[in-house]
Order: sequence, then structure tokens, then C-alpha cells
Amino acid sequence: MTSYHGISSSPIPFKNIARGPDFTRVVGDIHGKIGSYYQIVNSTNTPLDSPSIQLGDFCYGFEESLNEKMEHVWKNHSSHHKFIRGNHDNPEKCKSSPAYLGDFFYDESKKLFGVSGAYSTDVDTRSPFINWWPNEELTTTEMNKAYELYDEKRPAVMISHDAPTSITKGYVGEYEYHIKTSTREFLQALLDLHSPRLWIHGHWHFNRFTEAKGCLFVSLEELGFIDVNWREDYFITSKKQKIKY
Ligand SMILES: [Fe+2]
Repeated sequence: MTSYHGISSSPIPFKNIARGPDFTRVVGDIHGKIGSYYQIVNSTNTPLDSPSIQLGDFCYGFEESLNEKMEHVWKNHSSHHKFIRGNHDNPEKCKSSPAYLGDFFYDESKKLFGVSGAYSTDVDTRSPFINWWPNEELTTTEMNKAYELYDEKRPAVMISHDAPTSITKGYVGEYEYHIKTSTREFLQALLDLHSPRLWIHGHWHFNRFTEAKGCLFVSLEELGFIDVNWREDYFITSKKQKIKY
């Protein structure tokens, strides 16, 4: 069982916590669990037009039967349900989806910046173009473009699949090793350039708050979520904690 500051966040209560136009439900890794994803974005008494953003590792592009289920949600509700990609998603499939936010993007209305992609540490166990793709991380050119845009916009909130090196080093207690990756180093360069107030990521499969450099980092577990109010700068956890940022 994982926790936010010692408060249980598992199992996930599929309830209407704080939905509506001022909130966006930000959702962690899905790993092909489409039924659970559907419940999270379409929770009790909450219509599918309450917006959400998912942080990658849908396993989109792995199996056609799963793809069709995801595309069914996105096709009918792509203006409400968006996603970035992780290392366990097919980049080309993602780029073809109307719900994909892009390899990097900035949303002025939310003062939100996002970066897709990550490095797969289990690449040796995977099959290219079946369940692993060589362009899982942004290219140097894409990172440079993203860096310029980030410098210009100086966002209040950041989302990414993985997290900056200085933050992931703090997670090492959960794992036996830590490696620097291009994506972590790139995200670190963004953090060194400018600290947003809130940074939400997935990939690590646990719920964790970390405060560093004036920013609150929120790691979301698989199927974990928070509801962010962009206008009033707070979010609500699945255990109904209200957190200002
Ligand atoms: Fe991942």
C-alpha cells in the first residue's frame, strides 16, 4: 500500500471528488487497464465531459483490441480526455490520436507545460516495434525546441512521464539502482532554468510528494489521480486532501 504523507490512497475510490470545468483529473500510468481508466475519467455521477489528462504508459499501440477501446473514448471525447506518452506507448500511434497533447506542449489557459517520453530500463527484455520503440525519448532537436518554449513561457505547472534527475535520485530507495537518462537530464535542465510551482509525473508507480527548488513534485501511482483546479492553484487527492501549490 502506498500513501500521501501516511494517508492511504489505495484502493482508489471511484467517486465524484472534485469535477467540473475548473478541474482537470490528472491520471498516472494505465498499463493497458482500460476498464479502470474508463472508471477514473467517468466516475460515478460525473459525465465524460469532465476533463482529464493522462501521464503516459497507456500501453497504447501494443494490442489492437486495447487500442480500439482507448480510441473509442478519445474519438467521442477527445476534447475532454488528453494524454502525453510514456516509454510504454507507440509514439507514431500517439501522434495519430486527436487526444495526444504532443511530444511537448504549452497550454496558456492553464499555464501548463508538458513533456512526453522516457527511457525504458527494461529495454533488453522487449521487442522493437512490438512493445518497445527506439524513439521513446525526444530527440536532441526536439528537446532544444522544448527548452526554448519553456524558457519563453515559464509555466506554473509541469507534467511529464518521468521526473528530473535530482528528484528521481530521491526515489532510489524504492529501487536498487538509479541511472541518468536523456529525459531525466533534460527535465533537470528545465527545472534548473525555471521552477514551476507544481510538477506532476508518473512512471515510478508510487504516490509521493517531494518539495524541491520551490516546486511541489507529485508522483502518481498506477491508476492514481489528482484533481487540479488551475484557476485557484490547488488540487484534491483521491483521499480528498486539498493541497495549495
Ligand atoms: Fe514509464
